[in-house]
Amino acid sequence: MNAHFGPQGRLRGTYVPPSDKSISHRAALLAAMSSDPVEVINYLEAADTRSTLDAIRSLGALVEDRGDRLRVRGAGLRAASEPSGPIDVGNAGTLLRLLPGWLAGQPSGTWVIDGDESIRRRPVDRVAEPLALMGASIAARDGRFSPFTVVGSELHGIEYELPVASAQVKSCVLLAGLLADGTTTVVEPAPSRDHTERMLLRAGAHVEREGDRVSVGSQDELGLEEFRVPGDPSSAAFMIAATVLVPGSRLVVEGMGSNWTRVGFLRILERMGGVIVGPLESPGVPLTAHEPVCELDVSAGPLDATTVEAAEVPLAIDELPLVALLGCFAEGTTVVRGAHELRLKESDRIATVVDGLKGLGAEIEATEDGFAVTGTGELSGGRLDAHGDHRLAMLGAVAGLASRDGVQVNGMEAAEVSYPGFVADLAALLVS
Ligand code: S3P
Repeated sequence: MNAHFGPQGRLRGTYVPPSDKSISHRAALLAAMSSDPVEVINYLEAADTRSTLDAIRSLGALVEDRGDRLRVRGAGLRAASEPSGPIDVGNAGTLLRLLPGWLAGQPSGTWVIDGDESIRRRPVDRVAEPLALMGASIAARDGRFSPFTVVGSELHGIEYELPVASAQVKSCVLLAGLLADGTTTVVEPAPSRDHTERMLLRAGAHVEREGDRVSVGSQDELGLEEFRVPGDPSSAAFMIAATVLVPGSRLVVEGMGSNWTRVGFLRILERMGGVIVGPLESPGVPLTAHEPVCELDVSAGPLDATTVEAAEVPLAIDELPLVALLGCFAEGTTVVRGAHELRLKESDRIATVVDGLKGLGAEIEATEDGFAVTGTGELSGGRLDAHGDHRLAMLGAVAGLASRDGVQVNGMEAAEVSYPGFVADLAALLVS
Protein backbone atom coordinates (compact mmCIF):
# COMPACT_ATOMS: atom_id res chain seq x y z
CA MET A 1 0.00 0.00 0.00
CA ASN A 2 1.31 3.44 -0.95
CA ALA A 3 0.44 6.48 1.12
CA HIS A 4 1.21 10.17 0.65
CA PHE A 5 2.08 12.55 3.49
CA GLY A 6 2.35 16.23 2.71
CA PRO A 7 3.09 19.40 4.64
CA GLN A 8 -0.54 20.17 5.54
CA GLY A 9 -1.45 21.40 8.96
CA ARG A 10 0.16 21.08 12.34
CA LEU A 11 -0.30 18.65 15.20
CA ARG A 12 -2.47 19.82 18.07
CA GLY A 13 -4.20 17.99 20.87
CA THR A 14 -4.02 15.14 23.32
CA TYR A 15 -2.58 11.83 22.24
CA VAL A 16 -2.64 8.42 23.90
CA PRO A 17 -0.02 6.15 22.31
CA PRO A 18 -0.71 2.48 21.58
CA SER A 19 0.33 -0.09 24.17
CA ASP A 20 3.97 -0.94 24.57
CA LYS A 21 5.13 -3.71 22.24
CA SER A 22 8.15 -4.85 24.28
CA ILE A 23 6.11 -5.02 27.47
CA SER A 24 3.16 -6.76 25.78
CA HIS A 25 5.42 -9.55 24.47
CA ARG A 26 6.83 -10.05 27.96
CA ALA A 27 3.43 -9.94 29.68
CA ALA A 28 2.09 -12.68 27.38
CA LEU A 29 5.17 -14.85 27.84
CA LEU A 30 5.30 -14.48 31.62
CA ALA A 31 1.55 -15.11 31.80
CA ALA A 32 2.11 -18.33 29.84
CA MET A 33 4.83 -19.28 32.32
CA SER A 34 2.62 -18.51 35.35
CA SER A 35 0.71 -21.07 37.38
CA ASP A 36 -2.40 -19.00 38.14
CA PRO A 37 -4.53 -16.99 35.67
CA VAL A 38 -3.12 -13.59 34.67
CA GLU A 39 -5.07 -10.54 33.51
CA VAL A 40 -3.18 -8.42 31.00
CA ILE A 41 -4.81 -5.02 30.64
CA ASN A 42 -4.16 -2.89 27.54
CA TYR A 43 -2.29 -5.59 25.60
CA LEU A 44 -1.05 -4.28 22.23
CA GLU A 45 -3.26 -5.25 19.30
CA ALA A 46 -0.73 -5.49 16.45
CA ALA A 47 0.81 -8.13 14.20
CA ASP A 48 3.91 -8.73 16.35
CA THR A 49 2.03 -9.21 19.60
CA ARG A 50 -0.60 -11.40 17.89
CA SER A 51 2.30 -13.70 16.98
CA THR A 52 3.14 -13.96 20.67
CA LEU A 53 -0.44 -14.88 21.61
CA ASP A 54 -0.50 -17.53 18.86
CA ALA A 55 2.82 -18.87 20.14
CA ILE A 56 1.73 -19.17 23.77
CA ARG A 57 -1.55 -20.80 22.71
CA SER A 58 0.43 -23.39 20.78
CA LEU A 59 2.50 -23.99 23.93
CA GLY A 60 -0.57 -24.77 26.02
CA ALA A 61 -1.85 -21.40 27.33
CA LEU A 62 -5.52 -20.45 27.09
CA VAL A 63 -6.03 -16.84 26.04
CA GLU A 64 -9.43 -15.24 26.43
CA ASP A 65 -10.13 -11.76 25.04
CA ARG A 66 -12.30 -9.84 27.53
CA GLY A 67 -12.40 -6.49 25.72
CA ASP A 68 -9.96 -4.21 27.52
CA ARG A 69 -8.04 -7.17 28.96
CA LEU A 70 -6.76 -10.63 28.19
CA ARG A 71 -7.19 -13.44 30.64
CA VAL A 72 -4.37 -15.93 30.24
CA ARG A 73 -4.28 -19.35 31.87
CA GLY A 74 -0.67 -20.33 31.52
CA ALA A 75 0.99 -23.62 30.84
CA GLY A 76 3.22 -23.23 33.93
CA LEU A 77 6.94 -22.63 34.17
CA ARG A 78 8.03 -26.21 33.37
CA ALA A 79 5.05 -27.48 31.39
CA ALA A 80 5.15 -25.94 27.89
CA SER A 81 3.40 -28.31 25.48
CA GLU A 82 4.72 -29.44 22.12
CA PRO A 83 2.73 -28.11 19.15
CA SER A 84 2.33 -30.34 16.09
CA GLY A 85 4.31 -27.98 13.83
CA PRO A 86 6.83 -25.12 13.99
CA ILE A 87 6.10 -22.03 16.08
CA ASP A 88 5.74 -19.09 13.67
CA VAL A 89 7.04 -15.86 15.26
CA GLY A 90 6.06 -13.83 12.15
CA ASN A 91 8.11 -10.62 12.13
CA ALA A 92 8.66 -10.49 15.92
CA GLY A 93 12.36 -10.37 16.84
CA THR A 94 11.61 -10.13 20.55
CA LEU A 95 9.55 -13.32 20.48
CA LEU A 96 12.28 -14.99 18.41
CA ARG A 97 14.92 -14.23 21.05
CA LEU A 98 12.91 -14.63 24.28
CA LEU A 99 11.01 -17.83 23.57
CA PRO A 100 14.07 -20.14 23.37
CA GLY A 101 15.03 -19.06 26.91
CA TRP A 102 11.83 -20.58 28.28
CA LEU A 103 11.79 -23.66 26.05
CA ALA A 104 15.47 -24.59 26.46
CA GLY A 105 14.93 -25.40 30.16
CA GLN A 106 11.81 -27.56 29.79
CA PRO A 107 12.16 -31.05 31.30
CA SER A 108 11.41 -32.58 27.90
CA GLY A 109 10.13 -31.66 24.45
CA THR A 110 11.31 -30.42 21.05
CA TRP A 111 10.29 -27.17 19.38
CA VAL A 112 11.02 -25.67 15.97
CA ILE A 113 10.95 -21.87 15.77
CA ASP A 114 10.58 -20.05 12.45
CA GLY A 115 9.33 -16.72 11.12
CA ASP A 116 8.93 -14.53 8.06
CA GLU A 117 11.60 -13.64 5.47
CA SER A 118 12.99 -10.79 7.60
CA ILE A 119 13.16 -13.04 10.70
CA ARG A 120 15.10 -15.62 8.70
CA ARG A 121 17.81 -12.98 8.13
CA ARG A 122 18.11 -12.11 11.83
CA PRO A 123 20.78 -13.93 13.85
CA VAL A 124 19.84 -16.26 16.69
CA ASP A 125 23.38 -17.34 17.57
CA ARG A 126 23.40 -14.43 20.03
CA VAL A 127 20.92 -16.40 22.17
CA ALA A 128 21.98 -19.92 21.13
CA GLU A 129 25.53 -19.33 22.41
CA PRO A 130 24.74 -18.39 26.03
CA LEU A 131 21.97 -21.01 26.18
CA ALA A 132 24.44 -23.68 25.01
CA LEU A 133 26.81 -22.59 27.80
CA MET A 134 23.94 -23.28 30.21
CA GLY A 135 23.55 -26.80 28.81
CA ALA A 136 20.84 -26.15 26.20
CA SER A 137 20.48 -28.08 23.00
CA ILE A 138 19.82 -25.75 20.04
CA ALA A 139 20.44 -26.36 16.34
CA ALA A 140 20.08 -23.38 14.00
CA ARG A 141 20.19 -23.19 10.19
CA ASP A 142 23.80 -22.46 9.22
CA GLY A 143 24.53 -22.28 12.94
CA ARG A 144 22.87 -18.89 13.33
CA PHE A 145 19.52 -18.46 11.58
CA SER A 146 15.87 -19.59 11.71
CA PRO A 147 14.38 -22.09 11.50
CA PHE A 148 16.04 -23.55 14.58
CA THR A 149 15.26 -26.42 16.93
CA VAL A 150 15.28 -26.31 20.73
CA VAL A 151 15.29 -29.52 22.77
CA GLY A 152 14.36 -29.15 26.44
CA SER A 153 17.39 -29.93 28.64
CA GLU A 154 18.71 -29.60 32.18
CA LEU A 155 20.30 -26.16 32.54
CA HIS A 156 22.83 -24.74 34.98
CA GLY A 157 23.41 -21.11 35.90
CA ILE A 158 26.24 -19.16 34.24
CA GLU A 159 27.76 -15.72 34.37
CA TYR A 160 27.47 -14.30 30.86
CA GLU A 161 29.07 -11.11 29.61
CA LEU A 162 26.98 -9.78 26.72
CA PRO A 163 29.16 -9.00 23.67
CA VAL A 164 26.65 -6.26 22.68
CA ALA A 165 24.04 -4.51 24.79
CA SER A 166 20.81 -6.33 23.92
CA ALA A 167 17.69 -6.50 26.05
CA GLN A 168 16.49 -9.45 24.01
CA VAL A 169 19.59 -11.54 24.73
CA LYS A 170 19.65 -10.46 28.38
CA SER A 171 15.99 -11.41 28.74
CA CYS A 172 16.48 -14.78 27.07
CA VAL A 173 19.30 -15.72 29.45
CA LEU A 174 17.32 -14.51 32.49
CA LEU A 175 14.25 -16.56 31.49
CA ALA A 176 16.45 -19.64 31.07
CA GLY A 177 18.00 -18.79 34.46
CA LEU A 178 14.60 -19.32 36.15
CA LEU A 179 14.80 -22.96 35.05
CA ALA A 180 18.51 -23.50 35.68
CA ASP A 181 20.31 -24.79 38.76
CA GLY A 182 22.09 -22.09 40.77
CA THR A 183 22.36 -18.42 39.92
CA THR A 184 22.44 -16.94 36.41
CA THR A 185 24.11 -13.56 35.94
CA VAL A 186 24.18 -11.32 32.87
CA VAL A 187 26.76 -8.53 32.61
CA GLU A 188 25.79 -5.69 30.27
CA PRO A 189 28.26 -3.43 28.44
CA ALA A 190 25.67 -0.61 28.74
CA PRO A 191 22.16 -0.48 30.24
CA SER A 192 19.34 -1.72 28.01
CA ARG A 193 15.57 -1.83 28.58
CA ASP A 194 14.80 -3.62 31.84
CA HIS A 195 11.14 -4.62 31.40
CA THR A 196 11.90 -8.31 31.88
CA GLU A 197 13.66 -7.70 35.20
CA ARG A 198 10.81 -5.51 36.46
CA MET A 199 8.11 -7.96 35.42
CA LEU A 200 9.98 -10.95 36.86
CA LEU A 201 10.28 -9.15 40.19
CA ARG A 202 6.57 -8.54 40.10
CA ALA A 203 5.94 -12.20 39.30
CA GLY A 204 7.81 -13.22 42.46
CA ALA A 205 11.21 -14.13 40.98
CA HIS A 206 14.48 -13.35 42.77
CA VAL A 207 16.09 -10.71 40.57
CA GLU A 208 18.96 -8.49 41.64
CA ARG A 209 20.75 -5.73 39.81
CA GLU A 210 24.08 -4.38 40.96
CA GLY A 211 25.76 -1.96 38.60
CA ASP A 212 26.06 -3.67 35.22
CA ARG A 213 25.15 -7.15 36.59
CA VAL A 214 21.66 -8.68 36.73
CA SER A 215 21.09 -12.05 38.44
CA VAL A 216 18.19 -14.46 38.79
CA GLY A 217 17.86 -17.66 40.78
CA SER A 218 16.09 -20.90 40.03
CA GLN A 219 12.33 -20.60 40.48
CA ASP A 220 9.57 -23.12 41.20
CA GLU A 221 6.77 -21.04 39.77
CA LEU A 222 5.78 -17.54 38.65
CA GLY A 223 2.63 -15.60 39.50
CA LEU A 224 1.96 -12.38 37.64
CA GLU A 225 -1.75 -11.94 38.55
CA GLU A 226 -2.54 -8.63 36.85
CA PHE A 227 -0.48 -6.40 34.64
CA ARG A 228 -1.33 -3.10 32.91
CA VAL A 229 0.71 -2.32 29.80
CA PRO A 230 1.67 1.37 29.48
CA GLY A 231 1.78 3.39 26.24
CA ASP A 232 4.75 2.73 23.96
CA PRO A 233 7.43 5.48 23.92
CA SER A 234 8.81 4.04 20.66
CA SER A 235 5.45 4.51 18.91
CA ALA A 236 4.84 7.89 20.56
CA ALA A 237 8.27 9.00 19.32
CA PHE A 238 6.90 9.41 15.77
CA MET A 239 4.18 11.83 16.89
CA ILE A 240 6.61 13.61 19.20
CA ALA A 241 9.14 14.06 16.39
CA ALA A 242 6.39 15.32 14.07
CA THR A 243 5.34 17.84 16.73
CA VAL A 244 8.88 19.14 17.02
CA LEU A 245 9.32 19.34 13.24
CA VAL A 246 6.05 20.92 12.16
CA PRO A 247 5.93 24.59 13.19
CA GLY A 248 3.02 25.61 15.37
CA SER A 249 2.45 22.11 16.75
CA ARG A 250 1.78 21.20 20.37
CA LEU A 251 0.96 17.79 21.73
CA VAL A 252 0.03 16.45 25.14
CA VAL A 253 1.06 12.78 25.40
CA GLU A 254 -0.84 10.77 27.99
CA GLY A 255 -0.23 7.33 29.50
CA MET A 256 3.21 6.83 27.98
CA GLY A 257 5.75 4.59 29.71
CA SER A 258 8.57 6.70 31.15
CA ASN A 259 10.95 3.92 32.23
CA TRP A 260 14.43 5.49 31.99
CA THR A 261 15.72 2.61 29.89
CA ARG A 262 13.21 3.51 27.16
CA VAL A 263 13.26 7.29 26.94
CA GLY A 264 16.76 7.88 25.60
CA PHE A 265 15.23 9.44 22.49
CA LEU A 266 13.48 12.11 24.55
CA ARG A 267 16.76 12.96 26.30
CA ILE A 268 18.43 13.31 22.89
CA LEU A 269 15.55 15.41 21.60
CA GLU A 270 15.69 17.74 24.62
CA ARG A 271 19.42 18.16 24.03
CA MET A 272 18.67 19.14 20.44
CA GLY A 273 16.19 21.82 21.55
CA GLY A 274 12.79 20.09 21.52
CA VAL A 275 10.61 21.31 24.37
CA ILE A 276 9.33 18.47 26.53
CA VAL A 277 7.64 19.26 29.82
CA GLY A 278 6.84 16.32 32.10
CA PRO A 279 8.44 13.80 34.41
CA LEU A 280 10.66 11.05 33.02
CA GLU A 281 12.13 8.44 35.34
CA SER A 282 15.65 9.38 36.53
CA PRO A 283 18.48 7.43 34.89
CA GLY A 284 19.89 4.61 37.00
CA VAL A 285 17.08 4.38 39.60
CA PRO A 286 17.22 1.11 41.61
CA LEU A 287 15.41 -1.86 40.07
CA THR A 288 11.70 -1.82 40.83
CA ALA A 289 8.71 -3.95 39.88
CA HIS A 290 6.88 -0.87 38.63
CA GLU A 291 6.57 0.55 35.08
CA PRO A 292 6.13 4.34 35.44
CA VAL A 293 3.75 6.30 33.21
CA CYS A 294 3.87 10.02 32.41
CA GLU A 295 2.08 12.91 30.77
CA LEU A 296 4.19 15.15 28.53
CA ASP A 297 3.62 18.52 26.89
CA VAL A 298 5.67 18.70 23.68
CA SER A 299 6.31 21.66 21.40
CA ALA A 300 8.88 22.77 18.85
CA GLY A 301 12.05 24.79 19.32
CA PRO A 302 14.98 25.54 17.01
CA LEU A 303 17.07 22.38 16.76
CA ASP A 304 20.84 21.99 17.24
CA ALA A 305 22.90 19.02 16.13
CA THR A 306 24.04 16.45 18.67
CA THR A 307 26.26 13.38 18.97
CA VAL A 308 24.89 10.07 20.19
CA GLU A 309 27.60 7.77 21.57
CA ALA A 310 27.52 3.99 22.06
CA ALA A 311 26.42 4.09 25.72
CA GLU A 312 23.25 5.98 24.81
CA VAL A 313 22.39 3.79 21.81
CA PRO A 314 20.52 0.94 23.61
CA LEU A 315 18.29 3.49 25.38
CA ALA A 316 17.13 4.91 22.03
CA ILE A 317 17.82 2.04 19.63
CA ASP A 318 14.41 1.94 17.91
CA GLU A 319 14.17 5.74 17.67
CA LEU A 320 17.55 6.37 16.03
CA PRO A 321 15.92 6.65 12.56
CA LEU A 322 14.05 9.66 13.96
CA VAL A 323 17.31 11.18 15.21
CA ALA A 324 18.49 11.05 11.57
CA LEU A 325 15.34 12.88 10.45
CA LEU A 326 15.65 15.52 13.19
CA GLY A 327 19.27 15.97 12.19
CA CYS A 328 18.12 17.16 8.73
CA PHE A 329 16.50 20.15 10.45
CA ALA A 330 19.17 20.85 13.09
CA GLU A 331 21.97 23.39 12.94
CA GLY A 332 25.25 21.50 12.43
CA THR A 333 26.10 17.82 11.94
CA THR A 334 24.32 15.17 13.98
CA VAL A 335 26.35 12.01 14.47
CA VAL A 336 25.30 8.56 15.75
CA ARG A 337 28.12 6.15 16.65
CA GLY A 338 28.34 2.66 18.11
CA ALA A 339 25.00 1.61 16.61
CA HIS A 340 26.06 -1.35 14.46
CA GLU A 341 23.03 -3.21 15.91
CA LEU A 342 20.83 -1.10 13.63
CA ARG A 343 22.07 -3.25 10.74
CA LEU A 344 20.40 -6.30 12.34
CA LYS A 345 16.88 -4.95 12.79
CA GLU A 346 13.75 -5.59 10.66
CA SER A 347 15.83 -4.06 7.86
CA ASP A 348 19.47 -2.90 7.82
CA ARG A 349 18.38 0.39 9.36
CA ILE A 350 21.65 2.18 8.69
CA ALA A 351 21.32 1.47 4.96
CA THR A 352 17.54 1.90 4.68
CA VAL A 353 17.39 5.12 6.74
CA VAL A 354 20.37 6.74 5.03
CA ASP A 355 19.26 5.77 1.50
CA GLY A 356 15.67 6.65 2.29
CA LEU A 357 16.41 10.13 3.64
CA LYS A 358 19.02 10.80 0.96
CA GLY A 359 16.29 10.12 -1.62
CA LEU A 360 14.23 12.88 0.01
CA GLY A 361 17.08 15.41 -0.24
CA ALA A 362 18.98 14.89 3.05
CA GLU A 363 22.73 15.41 3.42
CA ILE A 364 23.37 12.14 5.21
CA GLU A 365 26.15 9.54 5.04
CA ALA A 366 26.30 6.05 6.48
CA THR A 367 29.21 4.82 8.58
CA GLU A 368 29.88 1.24 9.62
CA ASP A 369 28.16 1.78 12.97
CA GLY A 370 25.89 4.78 12.45
CA PHE A 371 25.46 7.88 10.33
CA ALA A 372 26.25 11.58 10.09
CA VAL A 373 23.62 14.05 8.89
CA THR A 374 24.17 17.73 8.20
CA GLY A 375 21.14 19.91 8.78
CA THR A 376 20.02 22.00 5.83
CA GLY A 377 16.77 23.05 7.50
CA GLU A 378 14.65 21.36 4.84
CA LEU A 379 13.80 18.16 2.98
CA SER A 380 12.49 18.41 -0.53
CA GLY A 381 10.49 15.14 -0.43
CA GLY A 382 9.94 12.32 -2.90
CA ARG A 383 9.49 8.58 -2.44
CA LEU A 384 10.62 6.32 0.41
CA ASP A 385 10.44 2.53 0.41
CA ALA A 386 9.59 0.96 3.77
CA HIS A 387 11.46 -2.30 2.95
CA GLY A 388 8.83 -4.11 5.03
CA ASP A 389 10.11 -2.31 8.14
CA HIS A 390 7.42 -0.74 10.33
CA ARG A 391 9.64 1.97 11.75
CA LEU A 392 10.82 3.01 8.30
CA ALA A 393 7.24 3.34 7.04
CA MET A 394 6.36 5.66 9.94
CA LEU A 395 9.62 7.60 9.48
CA GLY A 396 8.58 8.29 5.88
CA ALA A 397 5.22 9.62 7.03
CA VAL A 398 6.78 12.05 9.53
CA ALA A 399 9.36 13.10 6.93
CA GLY A 400 6.47 13.86 4.56
CA LEU A 401 4.80 16.21 7.05
CA ALA A 402 8.07 18.09 7.53
CA SER A 403 9.02 18.17 3.81
CA ARG A 404 8.47 20.79 1.12
CA ASP A 405 6.71 18.63 -1.50
CA GLY A 406 5.54 15.61 0.53
CA VAL A 407 6.64 11.98 0.69
CA GLN A 408 5.07 8.91 -0.86
CA VAL A 409 5.70 5.90 1.37
CA ASN A 410 5.76 2.61 -0.51
CA GLY A 411 4.70 -0.22 1.76
CA MET A 412 2.89 1.77 4.47
CA GLU A 413 1.16 -1.44 5.63
CA ALA A 414 4.41 -2.41 7.41
CA ALA A 415 3.27 -0.10 10.25
CA GLU A 416 0.76 -2.82 11.25
CA VAL A 417 3.60 -4.71 12.92
CA SER A 418 3.68 -2.34 15.90
CA TYR A 419 1.15 0.44 15.25
CA PRO A 420 -1.95 -0.49 13.20
CA GLY A 421 -3.72 2.85 13.91
CA PHE A 422 -0.75 5.05 13.02
CA VAL A 423 -2.18 6.80 9.92
CA ALA A 424 -5.56 7.40 11.58
CA ASP A 425 -3.95 8.73 14.80
CA LEU A 426 -1.78 11.11 12.78
CA ALA A 427 -4.76 12.35 10.75
CA ALA A 428 -6.73 12.93 13.97
CA LEU A 429 -3.97 15.15 15.38
CA LEU A 430 -3.53 17.29 12.25
CA VAL A 431 -5.39 20.62 12.14
CA SER A 432 -5.03 23.29 9.48
C1 S3P B 1 13.68 -5.15 22.29
C2 S3P B 1 15.02 -4.89 22.36
C3 S3P B 1 15.76 -4.21 21.29
C4 S3P B 1 14.82 -3.45 20.37
C5 S3P B 1 13.64 -4.27 19.96
C6 S3P B 1 12.84 -4.70 21.17
C7 S3P B 1 13.04 -5.89 23.39
O1 S3P B 1 16.45 -5.18 20.53
O2 S3P B 1 15.50 -2.99 19.24
O3 S3P B 1 12.79 -3.53 19.10
O4 S3P B 1 11.79 -5.89 23.47
O5 S3P B 1 13.77 -6.46 24.20
P1 S3P B 1 17.93 -5.72 20.97
O6 S3P B 1 17.78 -6.45 22.25
O7 S3P B 1 18.34 -6.63 19.85
O8 S3P B 1 18.78 -4.50 21.08
